This record gives sequence, C-alpha cells and structure tokens, in this order.
Amino acid sequence: MEYMKSFEKIIAEQLVRVEKMKTADEFVDFEKLDKIVVGVIDGDGIGPIILTEARRVLNELLKAEIEAGKIELRTIEGLTLENRIAKNETVPADVLAAIKSCHVLLKGPTTTPSKADNLPNIESANVTLRRELDLFANVRPVSIPEKNLDWIFYRENTEGEYVLGSRGVDINEDISVDFKVTTTAGTKRIARAAFEYAKANGNKNVSIVTKANIMKKTDGKFLDLCYQVAKEYPDIKTDDWYVDIMAANLVNEQIRSNFNVFILPNLYGDIITDEAAQIQGGVGTAGSANVGGKYAMFEAIHGSAPRMVTDGIAPYANPSSILKAAEMLLRHIGFVAKADSLSAAVDFSQSSKNMTGDASGDTATDFADCVISKLKEA
Ligand code: IPM
Ligand code: MG
Repeated sequence: MEYMKSFEKIIAEQLVRVEKMKTADEFVDFEKLDKIVVGVIDGDGIGPIILTEARRVLNELLKAEIEAGKIELRTIEGLTLENRIAKNETVPADVLAAIKSCHVLLKGPTTTPSKADNLPNIESANVTLRRELDLFANVRPVSIPEKNLDWIFYRENTEGEYVLGSRGVDINEDISVDFKVTTTAGTKRIARAAFEYAKANGNKNVSIVTKANIMKKTDGKFLDLCYQVAKEYPDIKTDDWYVDIMAANLVNEQIRSNFNVFILPNLYGDIITDEAAQIQGGVGTAGSANVGGKYAMFEAIHGSAPRMVTDGIAPYANPSSILKAAEMLLRHIGFVAKADSLSAAVDFSQSSKNMTGDASGDTATDFADCVISKLKEA
C-alpha cells in the first residue's frame, strides 16, 4: 500500500527533525557582530510597494550605521511568484542560499499559489522559510492603549498542522489525510520563549490556548508541557483556554484586558492573531516576528493583496504593518532607541495620514514621507 510507505517516510523525517532540535543553535549575540546583514525581500503583489517605502525609512533611520558599515541592507531578489513557479520550487535554492547569508530578514508578503487559481499547488514560501530557517516562534504583539489592551501572541511556528506543509496524503479518491505533529522539544521552546518574555516584562499573565479536549494527543501534550514549563516561573499567573472560547474572549470587553501573553499551537495562532489584529484596526496594522536560534524574519501580518494590484490601487497600500515588523527587527538586533523612534513616527503617521486603501486616501509614499519627516525632527 503506497500510503503506508508515505506515512512511514513522514514519521521517519519527524524523528530526524526531533533529534536535530535537541542540538539547536544558540541565539546570536548581535553586539558581538562587526556587521549585521539585514536581507530585504520584496515579495509579491503590494510587497514591492511597501518594501520600497520600508527601505527608504530604514535608510534614513540607520543612515549613520549604514555609512559606518555596521549595518548592510541587502536586497534579496527572486522570491517572486513568477520565479517560484518557473523553478517549481517554493523557495528556489539560490534564493535560500542568499537568505542564509543574512542575519535577519525583512520580508514582504509572498503569494501562495493555489489549485483554485490554476497555479501549481506548491507550498507557501512562508511555511518553507519558517521550516528551513527553524523560526520556531511567531511573535505578534497587538496593543490598544486607550482600551487597556496589551497582548502578545507566541505562536508555535514550525509544527502542528503546518509541519509537513503541503505534503499530506491522498489515500484514494475518497480520502485525504493531513498531519498534525506536536513534539516535546518544539513545545517547550515556544513555551519558554513566552514565559521568558512574560518574566522580563513584569511577570505578565500567560494564557495557554489549545483544543486539548478534542485533540487529546497533540494539544494534550502541548498543554501539559506548557504547564510544566510554567512551574519554572512561579511568579507568573498562568491559565488555559480552549481556542473557541478564546476567540470569543478577545471580543468580550468585560474580560479581554486581563489577557497579556498567549501561547498557541500553529494553526490556532494563525487564526487568533488575525482576529486580534483586526481588533487593533486591521491586519494591515500588525507586525510579525519569526524567531529562531540562528535566524529571524520579520514580516507584515497581511498577505500580498493581489486584488489591490488588479484594481490599480496598490500604491495606496498601508505600509504600517511592514514598518512595525521593521521596528521588531530593530529591537531584536538590539537597536532599541531606533525602534522606539520608528514606533513613535509610525504612530504619528497613523493618526495624521488617511490610509483608506484606495484613491480616496493617502498613498504608501505619502505615509513613508510623513514617517521620514518625523524621524528627521527627532
Ligand atoms: C500568517 C499567514 C501564513 C500562515 C500564510 C501566508 C502561509 O497567514 O503568517 O499568518 O498561515 O502562517
Ligand atoms: Mg495568518
């Protein structure tokens, strides 16, 4: 039976992955590097538009560091839908090599080809990159100070339902099977990242989100291990919720400001973070960090918005999300003061520009101009 062989192969690969995780990379100490290489990837759709603006902003903000050779902004070409389809590779080998020559990445949205669009059903570039670079923590902050909301989501980013990407198995015409995998090392490292953040930020509350009542093996393990890690942080208040009621909690004004740090398996994290970003003002407003031991990739939480391109309104795309991602990148490499000034300039531009996403409002360039003039004032 062909599918038994596929299943065997999948399990064998997972066993290898688990062993690799046990000897994972140490976190990079950016202070010790002579030069930090920031790879900038345009992506598809509105990607080149918002990344052009992000590059302009970073060139201004980091002018001195770039001139001194402390930072290099390196454009990585070729992570486009056309090139990926032409090569029939999610992330073409030469592009992956170029990416691996950088320390951190600022990445525009990449379109995932879909069967429905009559394109080859290759895997999402995001999922491939997260796996190839072992970016296990997807960190997504959402905050609305005037509503007292201060959330940060620690989404497991390499396993769960995403572990195989698009390599599930069609058993026959009638049955298709995907896989969900939870590992001890994979769960402990995301839990630890979340608790460390909570501890470093005044022992914020931590909430574990699963569906362990139904997914007893995978989510059951995730929940148990998160509580196990919680024991190392006795000063932190930890609770757990099922994902369905957590989706409701986020729109429940009576209780939602009690939540701070969330730990979620991959797919629930994907869904809940879009909901949270929408509460903050839309998926265009949130930034997203994908952090591993060796590499880290920062991206907008939204997609490539191909419809904005076909409707001719791509120049009106809001660059806030990618600029927030850039802010997270700066924090990650230890440029905290720069990150703070970028954050202030983006907040100011959000309140003074009118980003409607169409010709009735301001363009991405108008927005970046505003950010840059604010940065120059500072
Ligand atoms: C996200 C996106 C991705 C995901 C897609 C583009 C593969 O929705 O980063 O949340 O599902 O993780
Ligand atoms: Mg998503």
